[in-house]
Amino acid sequence: MSTERVAVVTGAARGIGRATAIAFARAGYRVAGVDIAAPASSAMDYGPATPEDLVQTGRLVEDAGGEWLPVILDQRDRAAVSEGFAQIVERFGGGEPTGDVEQDERTAADAQRKKLPLGVPWIEPEDVAPLVVFLASEEARMVSGTSFAATGGDSANFTA
Ligand SMILES: NC(=O)c1ccc[n+]([C@@H]2O[C@H](COP(=O)([O-])OP(=O)(O)OC[C@H]3O[C@@H](n4cnc5c(N)ncnc54)[C@H](O)[C@@H]3O)[C@@H](O)[C@H]2O)c1
Repeated sequence: MSTERVAVVTGAARGIGRATAIAFARAGYRVAGVDIAAPASSAMDYGPATPEDLVQTGRLVEDAGGEWLPVILDQRDRAAVSEGFAQIVERFGGGEPTGDVEQDERTAADAQRKKLPLGVPWIEPEDVAPLVVFLASEEARMVSGTSFAATGGDSANFTA
């Protein structure tokens, strides 16, 4: 089965990423599976995924009827991500995202800004941190059993 829809699945060599890749294939997507397929951190206390793992995901995706493109890269490396997306766009077509991480972030931020009542592009970690400090503070001693939406007004779009 082949459609115009393309799923880019990260961490695709095994685990949740592999299962997601297969599920997208079953749903008719063409699947690009991204993985480092090597030790990702010295803090890992279990074995790394391997290139063979990614190959096996590819077999399972194809068995499920999906077209498959493996892309080995480290997601922490922006240049590698841009290059990887260029490969994906070349193989599967499309242009959004373009593969240029900086440009894609700007495009996404512009689109998001138009949707948000407060006109902010999206929430940065620094926008959420003060809320955590407040909740831990004496001033918030009477606050419990509730959640706070730090959404730049986006919650108005789905609760209005
Ligand atoms: N399995 C669970 O029950 C569960 C539940 C909640 C959250 N999580 C979290 O979800 C994530 C995935 O879980 P999993 O069980 O599939 O883990 P996993 O270790 O089986 O798979 C993670 C995959 O990501 C790849 N990867 C790691 N760093 C990468 C990088 N920098 N660039 C590219 N690829 C990279 C690894 O090579 C590996 O194939 C983990 O962060 C895990 O902590 C897992």
